[in-house]
Formats: sequence, C-alpha cells, structure tokens
Amino acid sequence: MDAATLSPEQAAAELAWLSQQLIKANTAYHRDDAPDISDATYDALKRRNAAIEAQFPELKRDDSPSDLVGGAIAEGFGKVQHVVRMLSLGNAFDDDDVVEFDQRIRKYLGWAADTSLAYTAEPKIDGLSLSLRYENGKLIQAATRGDGETGENVTANARTIADIPHEISDAPDVLEVRGEVYMSHADFAALNARQSENGGKTFANPRNAAAGSLRQLDAEITKSRPLRFFAYAWGDLSAPLAETQSGAIARLAAFGFSTNPLTQTCDGPTEMISHYKMIEAQRADLGYDIDGVVYKVDDLSLQRRLGFRSTTPRWAIAHKFPAELAWTTLEAIDIQVGRTGALSPVARLRPVTVGGVVVSNATLHNEDYIAGRDGNGAPIREGRDIRVGDWVQVYRAGDVIPKIKDVDLARRPADATPYALPTKCPECGSDAIREEGDAVRRCTGGIICPAQAVEKLKHFVSRAAFDIEGLGAKQVEQFYADGWIATPADIFTLRERFGEGLQQLKNREGWGEKSAANLFDAIDEKRSIGLARVIFSLGIRHVGENSAALLAGHYTSWAAFEQAMTTARIGEGAIWDDLTGIDGVGDVMATSVVTTMQQEAERASIDRLIAQLSVQDAEIRATDSPVAGKTVVFTGTLERMTRAEAKARAESLGAKVSGSVSAKTDILVAGPGAGSKAKKAADLGVETMDEDAWLALIGDA
Ligand code: IVH
Repeated sequence: MDAATLSPEQAAAELAWLSQQLIKANTAYHRDDAPDISDATYDALKRRNAAIEAQFPELKRDDSPSDLVGGAIAEGFGKVQHVVRMLSLGNAFDDDDVVEFDQRIRKYLGWAADTSLAYTAEPKIDGLSLSLRYENGKLIQAATRGDGETGENVTANARTIADIPHEISDAPDVLEVRGEVYMSHADFAALNARQSENGGKTFANPRNAAAGSLRQLDAEITKSRPLRFFAYAWGDLSAPLAETQSGAIARLAAFGFSTNPLTQTCDGPTEMISHYKMIEAQRADLGYDIDGVVYKVDDLSLQRRLGFRSTTPRWAIAHKFPAELAWTTLEAIDIQVGRTGALSPVARLRPVTVGGVVVSNATLHNEDYIAGRDGNGAPIREGRDIRVGDWVQVYRAGDVIPKIKDVDLARRPADATPYALPTKCPECGSDAIREEGDAVRRCTGGIICPAQAVEKLKHFVSRAAFDIEGLGAKQVEQFYADGWIATPADIFTLRERFGEGLQQLKNREGWGEKSAANLFDAIDEKRSIGLARVIFSLGIRHVGENSAALLAGHYTSWAAFEQAMTTARIGEGAIWDDLTGIDGVGDVMATSVVTTMQQEAERASIDRLIAQLSVQDAEIRATDSPVAGKTVVFTGTLERMTRAEAKARAESLGAKVSGSVSAKTDILVAGPGAGSKAKKAADLGVETMDEDAWLALIGDA
C-alpha cells in the first residue's frame, strides 16, 4: 500500500513492525555475522520505513531504523560513559625521577622539603583496568577503561570473576571500585596448553590473555577463563571512603575485594625506593606480572588539591621496572613518511622475543639517533652508530614501539657502511630537507605526497579524532588509492558523489549495498562533532589529543579558535600572549598551529571540511561551578596556595586563567602587593576580590 494512503494508526503499527524487523536483521548481520535476510529485502524494508516516515514525520520512532548505524550494534558491547574519568599514570624510570616527583608535589603545594609527606607504594599490575559500579551494595555495571571517558560494558563477564563480589555491605550508596583484571602465570600456562590442544588461539602473555578473556561477547567463555582482580582505586562515590589512600584501600578490603598485600605507606622517596627494590626482588616469585611500583600521595585532601593534568594525576606516578632486553640483527632500514612529512627510519629486525612478545620492527627515531648523537650533538651509545647488518639490543618500554638500546661493534660485518637517510622522499620523490633546529628530515611534497595525504586521512578517522564506524586505516587506503577521497572533506561528500545507488562501492569486494549505506550513515553521524576532536583531527604538528583539548577548552568555539589563529602574529601581540598563556601550550606548539591555520593550501582543505560539519562548542567543564566560563587573573601574593595550584584549581572548575587584565577579565583575585593589574582592573570596572573571597566563591574556604 502506498504510504500516502495509510491511516496514522496503520502507519504507526507498520513503523513498529519495521523497526523490529530491521533491528533483528542488523543484529544478525553485525553481531552474529549471520545475516537472516537478503540485502535487497533489507533495503526494501529500510526504504519502506523511510517512505512512511516522510509521510508521517510525527510518527518517527525514537528507535527509528533510519537513525541506526550498523556499527552501534556491531560492536557487541554497549558503551559506558565513565562518571569519573579513568586516567593513566605518568612514569618514573629511575630514582631521580622519584625524588623529582616528590619535589614537584612540594613545590605545587608550597611545602618545605622537611614537612612530612606520606605516600603509598604498591605493585603496578600488568593487566587491564576495570571499573565496577555498585548501587546500594549491588554490582550493577562493569566497564573497561576504553579511552578513559567511555568504556565497554562488560558487566556479564565481570560477574564471572571470583574476586569480584556481586554484593557488598556497609558500602556507600554509590561506589565505583577500580582495579586491575589479570591472569596468574600458572593459569596462563594452563590456558595456553588447553587452547593449543583444542586447536584454539594461544596468547602471547598473561595480559593479552586477560584482555582477550574479559572482552568476550559470550560470558560463558569468560567464565571458563581464570581471571583475577586487585582493587586499588575508585571512581564515583556518594560518600568518601576514608581520609587517606591507605584507609580507602583498607575499606575496599573490608568490602571483600582483593587488595595487593605488598601495599605499604612510606614517608618519602627514600622509603619509596627501598620498597620498590623489595618488590622488584620478589617480582619473579609473585606468580603474576607486574611492571613497576605505583606511588600515591596518601592524604586524600592533598590528592584533591593536587588534582590532574590532562590525562594523569599529579598525586601519583608509576616507577617502571627496567625493560627487558634482547639481541638480534638489523636486516634493513625502511623509511616511513608520516602525516607531517617526517621521514622515519624503521629497523627491520630478525624476529626476537622480548618480554613475551615477538619483535620484528623497532623505531630508529631520526638520522642523529642512527649516527649515535642526540639533538644537541652529544654522543648517545658512546657515539656508536647503527648500520644494516649490525647486532642490536632491543627493548620494549610499556606498550610503545620497541626501541634500540645498543649495538655490538665487535660483531659488525666488515662490509657494513654508515647509514644515510635519503634526501628524496621515497614516496613522492620530492626533496626531503632537514631544517635548522629540526631533528627530522621532512618531505616537502605537502599534499602531493601520497604518503602524507594517506597518513593525514588515517589520523583523521582515528579513534581520538573522527572515529567513523566502518572507516578505518584499511578502508582509507583503499578509498585513497581508488581516487575517492584525497582530503578529509571528501569523506563527507562520498554519499552525494556516489548517489544512493552506490554503484562503485557496491561492486567492491566486501561492500554490499547495506554496508555502504551503513558507512554513509556513520559518516553523517559524525557531522556533528566536538571542537576538541576537530582540532585534533587536523593533524597539526605538535597538537596531540591533550593539546587539542586545551585549545578547545580555551577558545570553546570553532569560530573563536579560527578567528584567533588566523589573526595571531607569531611571537607578539595580545592574541599570541593569550594563546601561549594557556597552561600546556608552548611557543613551539603555538607557532605550529598559527602557521598551519594561516597556510593557504591547508586552509582551503580545512575550510572545505568545516563547511561539511556542525562543530559543537567545547563543553565548559563543571558547569555548575560559579566561575565556569569566567576569565580570572591572579595577582599579588597568594597565601593559602601556590600560583600553580590556584590556576589548576580555577581551570578544573571551568574558568580560564589569564596572565593579564583586559576588558575580557571577569574576576581579578588580588593578594597583598598587587600593583598595576589591580589598578587596571579598577579602571576597567573588573570585579576584584582577595584570596579568601575567591576561595569562598569556589567553595574551598
Ligand atoms: S592507579 C588515577 N594503581 O596502570 C590513577 N593503576 O599506567 C589510577 N595499574 O590505567 C590508576 N596497577 O590500569 C593504579 N596499583 C595500581 C595499578 C594501576 C596497575 C594500571 C591501571 C592504569 C595504568 C596506568
């Protein structure tokens, strides 16, 4: 029946039926990899749904199939937005780093070297972190870390872990317990033996086995894998657990969680380091993998004051164990061209096992590194260079790409020659030049260099950028090779250029009409996107995820960001001062952003992209704070906190902190000795208050 002749009742009933059918089909296709209807039938149902919706827009359902992105179901696990972000830790690699950590904290707090300051020290478990949410004592949700903001819902799987209580008593109404899921050495060995007996997949190390076991769509499989859990932190809470970290861990233990028996409080770096050595000595006998020791400030009110940098707490650090090393031969040096044109030498190694993982590539950083000197010309490896054919010592530090530590000159082949980086881009043949003060050689081809273009596109669709379902690195390479996309904006015109018929895509291996339509839907879904992601996605040199978030938080809208970046003058003027006044934005990054945003070809590409998007203003965090969105200037002597703390605290409440008073200033906090800034504020009629009034205003009095 023609949609136009339906009665509203008939239309509503049919929409309900269509929604049900299409959701079922989607689940069968994406989640179960077992399509139960043909592509043609699926498309017909979807068209029918669209036709009825067009006729009766008011009847469009909340779960309308036209809003369905295939991937949403394909992922299998639901998403969980963490109420309190799950962060990572900064690293310390030697004793000096630990001493510096303590000094940094004292400086931030304005504490003397002899004031006593306690820390906890505990093993850093090498597993994967998990957040468990209890409401009224009942486990209601378990989520992986994900990107720290959003994780995967693995509740059913977490319930199968014996160390995780389903119910706890005497707990706060809301309690999120965080800790590490891991597998013991013995269980890992038994699992691998069982897997290979059954012809199943074996795991490289206990961490991978734990991750693979927890992230199973079928909780029965998780249940058959012996996972364990140590609790060491918490997230959302309706009431504090204790006044100290050690007290809070004791509470978690009292609730029935396993907490690590090697946790100890220490009164400063000397004790922390000796506890580290004690743990390191026991490392091989623990029966599970650890990769360092975590130190945390014990007093929770100090933890609160210290707060966070963008992704790591100021009050904690991971003191890593030295990485494992292995010798192998360097078979070749390949050059990879990155999105900013950097020529990166990559070592191709004879495969060797390092810390349970087979390594066959390692980074060689740049030509100085290969030649045996650092950025300042000082020798590294005592000046020994690296040549193809050499025996080299490799190591892995954390999850990062393997590195080369040393080279054995005694075993160097007689015919080995010093390595020279090419002076032409191996991808496009353009000159590759090394500018004064730059450690790397760069291809000058810009957008004509296919390697740069593809890397830019890959960066654009990466998880922290546009994260388009169904459009990963592989698809981007294919689409670029086929001439369908050259710059990010092209992604957003794919649908209109190929039309609803999707002829070309349809003929490609692996693409059906439905998957292509799903892709276009997924692309459309990302037209509305947050400012930080947009800035990050541009792939500007020196602008990583954190910096992009800082810029977005400061300028809040694309219009304001663009206006500032296109009018800024490098090294001078109020806009430059404002930009470099952002905590975490230095001259190098600022120069890079301004240069990129003012460069003609780049701008044309960025403008075309922005025209396709609806960029959402950055959220002002903590919007319920009375200073959110306000511009604050501190001047004079602060007596109850250091300048660094004042600034960080204000920013965490959503305020912008600026170094100079202008008509845009909302509040001047003036301590004793305030001079010209106080006068200027008075002239401009800016609200001025003392430190106590400020603390009262933000609720810290
Ligand atoms: S504390 C806000 N304690 O290490 C800081 N983390 O590199 C919360 N980890 O994502 C983390 N053992 O997965 C903490 N005893 C421990 C840990 C630990 C392992 C993991 C955790 C975190 C990662 C950071």
